[in-house]
Amino acid sequence: MAPFIGTATSRVDGHAKVTGGAKYAAEFNVSNLAYASIVASTVTKGRIVRIDTTEATRVAGVIDVLTHANRPPMARTDSAYKDEVGPEEGSPFRPLYDDKIIFNRQPIALVVADEAEIARFAATLVRVDCEEDEYVTDLFRRDNKIVTVKKPAAPRGNAGKAYAASDVRHEAEYVIPMEHHNPMELFAATAIWEGDKLTVYDKTQGVQNVQRYLCNVFSMKPDEVRVVSPFVGGAFGVGLRPQFEAVLAVLAALATKRSVRLVLTRQQMFGLSYRPATIERLALGAKPTGTLNAVTHDAIAMTSRYEDFARNDTTWSGLLYKSASAAYSHKLAKLDVQTPSDMRAPGAATGVYALECAMDELAVALKLDPLELRYRVYSDRDQNNDVPYTSKQLRECYRQGAEAFGWDKRSPAPRTMRDGSELVGWGMATGVWDAWQMKFTTRIALTANGHAEVACSTSDIGTGTYTIMAQVAADMLGVPLESVTVKLGDSTLPQSPVEGGSWTAASVSHAIAVTAGKIRKDLLQLAKKIPNSPLREAKAEDVTLVEGKLTSKRDAHRFVSIADAMRSGALDRIEKEGSSDFKEDSSHAHNTHSAIFAEVKVDEELGVIRVTRVVSAVAAGRILNPKTAGSQIMGSVVWGIGMALHEETVIDHAFGRVMNANLAEYHVPVNADVQDIKVIFVEEPDEIINPLGIKGVGEIGIIGVAAAIANAVYHATGKRVRDLPITLDKLMR
Ligand code: MOS
Repeated sequence: MAPFIGTATSRVDGHAKVTGGAKYAAEFNVSNLAYASIVASTVTKGRIVRIDTTEATRVAGVIDVLTHANRPPMARTDSAYKDEVGPEEGSPFRPLYDDKIIFNRQPIALVVADEAEIARFAATLVRVDCEEDEYVTDLFRRDNKIVTVKKPAAPRGNAGKAYAASDVRHEAEYVIPMEHHNPMELFAATAIWEGDKLTVYDKTQGVQNVQRYLCNVFSMKPDEVRVVSPFVGGAFGVGLRPQFEAVLAVLAALATKRSVRLVLTRQQMFGLSYRPATIERLALGAKPTGTLNAVTHDAIAMTSRYEDFARNDTTWSGLLYKSASAAYSHKLAKLDVQTPSDMRAPGAATGVYALECAMDELAVALKLDPLELRYRVYSDRDQNNDVPYTSKQLRECYRQGAEAFGWDKRSPAPRTMRDGSELVGWGMATGVWDAWQMKFTTRIALTANGHAEVACSTSDIGTGTYTIMAQVAADMLGVPLESVTVKLGDSTLPQSPVEGGSWTAASVSHAIAVTAGKIRKDLLQLAKKIPNSPLREAKAEDVTLVEGKLTSKRDAHRFVSIADAMRSGALDRIEKEGSSDFKEDSSHAHNTHSAIFAEVKVDEELGVIRVTRVVSAVAAGRILNPKTAGSQIMGSVVWGIGMALHEETVIDHAFGRVMNANLAEYHVPVNADVQDIKVIFVEEPDEIINPLGIKGVGEIGIIGVAAAIANAVYHATGKRVRDLPITLDKLMR
């Protein structure tokens, strides 16, 4: 039995997932369901002159072909298309709204048919004439239109001067390419037509975000649209904003007055958002003893012509390490592409990659072990805001990670470690991410027989939210894990923001603790009414729920069972709602940290790189479930391998079109690429951040991984490749 918090626990939804009981957005079936298929633009920028749907409409089984010209009404203001997490600057994309084409693979028509195959076939028969405009999709063009992101963080000292005066300097440019989300589950929506109401099963990270958006776009009332998403087969950021599959499924349902399903193809998923290609310039100035004088971090990332998407790429550099001066700049190049989106640890995955490679190069220049350099510039305070952390066990991450990896056996010079025909390289890097907390509301219904239903509209994008919610509720209510049912992913459930930013675990857990506290209070009132109640003197803070009993913390012999307490009030259930409410705390920095150690083996003649070992030591406060949290980190490390060696979306700038829009040519790590990964959670007690000491994991797992691998490749080969992915051709060049 308890405690469940902190115990490695298998997913409570695992059985449903492996037996097919867990239903995803494209698996909700109703009778008379119609199927939609997108016609996507092959033009990058311009205007639709004519869409000829005659041939498509003639196909037996086709119900309708929707275009901007014949679609049902949609809102006309930008504000209707804004959402919880979209950029503040700009006009959001409106699917099938008018004749303008603003990015390649933009949906421009939608075929609705009795069968999915008929819809897909008929979509190939839609003829589109366009007037094409000039377009730019290349981040590296000199004549790009550039906008500056609001000052990322205040500079300190004079970094330019301090850099120039430094004895040891390193300056270089690091490039991260455009990367596309490729979750296993294709983006899909099933819009169930119920006359004046709609239920939309959507692949999303935020049902309430999508629900509000659909209400705004289609001028529907909140009780007329329900968005449901009980299971999500991976999303990692592309499901944060409402995506066009939901709008198009609803458009089709409204137009045909039928239930409609739309599933994107893998190719069409490359018309969704992505991690923006970014150029990061780092300049580090140091004293020969290995302390930093100056850190300058300048980033240029791509965004769309119509929205300014930016995340924090730069300020990690001055936050993380002790440096007398620091300066940042962040610019965006406006290109004729779909707006980028969050993608696991947006900003930090790219910015910290550059920082941690630059630190490795500085260590080489200083003739210092890279880990030793991290110790010399270590800081117990947030350097940007000059405040302490709620907790920071990064030093322990370094120590435990290095020990588990065997770092002390590293031979410092490149090309000095071998395994047969392979060069061996060892590299390391630091990771840092935010420990955010948001307002979440939960509802708990506890019955007299000790069963609890915990409900929140939050998603579980595969991270294990169902499981940790059950664990926290079981502990807080003193009932077995099996007695807890979790309901989530439904816009009619209590309020939550999108599941993102690694904030869900800390936030929803706290909301459950608050709500359980209310139930405990009610139970105590009831328990006191029992004649000669053993708890008649007890105050709310003196009692706890354990093993189905409300028990005095001072004297375990004084207790009243949940059943008896409810009986005294003639109740069979207590239902309460409560919210996590976090106060702004600018007197502390809230961050998670990691140390990553990687081993690569590089075939000297062929340049083939294998990542043979990775140790990731993570400090992220209290770990609710080492099993699901460990899987989060492991998955992130795999993604880090992909970022370092495989992933790259390639646009042919002559056409403005992604050329590798499929899983054969968009490379991700496969089983053979993934070898030994060890995850260590370093103990990090935190009594400041929140009452349960939780920070959240997920995104912290990817940050620094690509840098550790890039640094290992340098150590193996003596060759520094700064633009990702590190492919054989770059290595052998
Ligand atoms: Mo994550 S990029 O916050 O889904």
